[in-house]
Amino acid sequence: MTDLLDAANAARARAHAPYSGYRVGAALRDGDGRIHAGANVENAAYPLGLCAEAAAIAAMVTAGGTAIAEFLVVAEGAALVTPCGGCRQRIREFAEPATPIHLAEPGAVLATVTLGALLPMSFGPDHIR
Ligand code: THU
Repeated sequence: MTDLLDAANAARARAHAPYSGYRVGAALRDGDGRIHAGANVENAAYPLGLCAEAAAIAAMVTAGGTAIAEFLVVAEGAALVTPCGGCRQRIREFAEPATPIHLAEPGAVLATVTLGALLPMSFGPDHIR
């Protein structure tokens, strides 16, 4: 899991967060064991900002990945970071309810939960197959 945290921290160092000042890094292990990472990318037109999780998923898809085996998100703040609601659904597109989601501060993973715990009774690709 250290490799995921290292990748997420490296991505977070490149976050573009001049408006919120809240820098986020995300890293995932795909079905082939490869790691993909992303950072949040804010925009002067605020609603266009991109979450770190979305950037990591886009990196995976661009590299040909099709499944998320494990996901990690890292930030530093008053409360432990957790994926926003929209990103929970984005992760769900490529993951199962049992997929582990690690919640981290830069120095350590502080909690591991399942996607199912974050997004119960989720709607996923199987519903429309
Ligand atoms: N943010 C993420 O990148 N991921 C999350 O799960 C929570 C929020 C970003 C969006 C915005 O750039 C900043 O954090 C403050 O909301």
